[in-house]
Amino acid sequence: MRRKARKGGGKQIEATIDTLGGRGDGVAEHAGQPVFAPFALPGERVRLRLTGKSRAGVRGEVLEILSESPERVEPPCPHFGPCGGCTVQHLADAAYRRWTRELVTTALARRGFDAPPVAEPVFVGANTRRRAALSAVRTGSGVRLGFHGRESHTVEDIHTCHVLDPAIMALLPELRPALAQLLGPRETADVTVLLTETGLDVLIASAEPPGLKAREALAAVAESADLARLAWCEAGPGESDVPPEPVALRRPPRLTFGGTGVEPPPGAFVQPTRDGEAVLTQAVTEWLAEAAGPVADLYAGVGTFTLPLAVTHKVHAVDGAAGAMAALWQAVRKHDLMGRVTAEVRDLVEDPLTPDELGAFNAVVFDPPRQGARELAANLAASNVATVVALSCNPNTFGRDARALVDGGYELRAVRPIDQFPWTGHVELAALFRRAREANSG
Ligand SMILES: C[S@@+](CC[C@H](N)C(=O)[O-])C[C@H]1O[C@@H](n2cnc3c(N)ncnc32)[C@H](O)[C@@H]1O
Repeated sequence: MRRKARKGGGKQIEATIDTLGGRGDGVAEHAGQPVFAPFALPGERVRLRLTGKSRAGVRGEVLEILSESPERVEPPCPHFGPCGGCTVQHLADAAYRRWTRELVTTALARRGFDAPPVAEPVFVGANTRRRAALSAVRTGSGVRLGFHGRESHTVEDIHTCHVLDPAIMALLPELRPALAQLLGPRETADVTVLLTETGLDVLIASAEPPGLKAREALAAVAESADLARLAWCEAGPGESDVPPEPVALRRPPRLTFGGTGVEPPPGAFVQPTRDGEAVLTQAVTEWLAEAAGPVADLYAGVGTFTLPLAVTHKVHAVDGAAGAMAALWQAVRKHDLMGRVTAEVRDLVEDPLTPDELGAFNAVVFDPPRQGARELAANLAASNVATVVALSCNPNTFGRDARALVDGGYELRAVRPIDQFPWTGHVELAALFRRAREANSG
């Protein structure tokens, strides 16, 4: 196979791809350094152009595949390549499944876990992703709306997708002309879409607020696409202090966790698929079924695990996002759960629960963002909490935090990977730790 090479210099080499890196790039070795070659597969002999340094080694562009892997398949999506949403659609299913599990076992092996109890991963079905973080840019020919290219600011204008729920895809053609009213030439927006039980909840973040024409166009889309809500907020790094403004609120968006309905705030984090959420919730509730006494749910979001746990336990939920905690608290009050659930807004990196505070709980669940929970894991290691359930979307930071827990006297009993991002190196997992010896017994 020959790929259309981009113009430009850079040394050309021939190399054999040894492994698939965590982001789905083929990895070869050249002059003692790893070379990362997107779209190349292990075992393939390739001609590469070295295009520059990357964080972990050297970037390579595949110019020609000289011998093809038997595990190479035709990618099902026409956007595969320019779209950064999926990175390994060219890999056969069995090999992809093997690789997904290896991402977890390799990360754990790096932290000294030789034979960790890692189950076979669960894989979600195609077109089941209910939450999408999309990008939009106004160009000369209209608005492009889709995912960014891999390591690039270009936006692939997607018209079909094998991962997003069809209800999200059906919205995009209606949204593009309305975004054209909002965005000036070359201006960009972030568009978060969440499929809730009462319809789609859309949050648009842009530098300039919508004027009258844009508001009318966006409200018209809310009507014609039967959205639950469409809100706007100012684009910027981090969470703005100014809450998003509703442009159209037709029905309160609703998600149900453990039988309790929650109205998520605009742009809220929730698990990307309902099936993935069910697998993680099953692990959490099963592992804590025997835990007597109160449970802490740290990095709780809008209560994905808090509310199912509240059926059987008293739960203290903590999250740094005030909007998420307010949504959970509103649900708790509405459903008369005030004796069972408490909620606290707290930064768990700056101000993690201390070992003494953790000691008030029989079990702790924690579900941090990609950077993991280094500070909290250190305090758990020094606590006497009997059972810890870790949820993670990054096997590498999970490996680091698991090592801290095990060094502090916990035993790693089970790891269940769940792949909610098909055809990528993103894998989530639930893990069970039980205290095997006292925290301070050495
Ligand atoms: C992976 S999400 C998990 C949310 C929830 N457990 C769920 O499954 O829907 C991570 C959560 O961590 C919160 N978070 C991120 N950084 C934080 C910090 N420094 N302190 C406290 N919470 C934080 C986010 O607001 C988000 O709700």
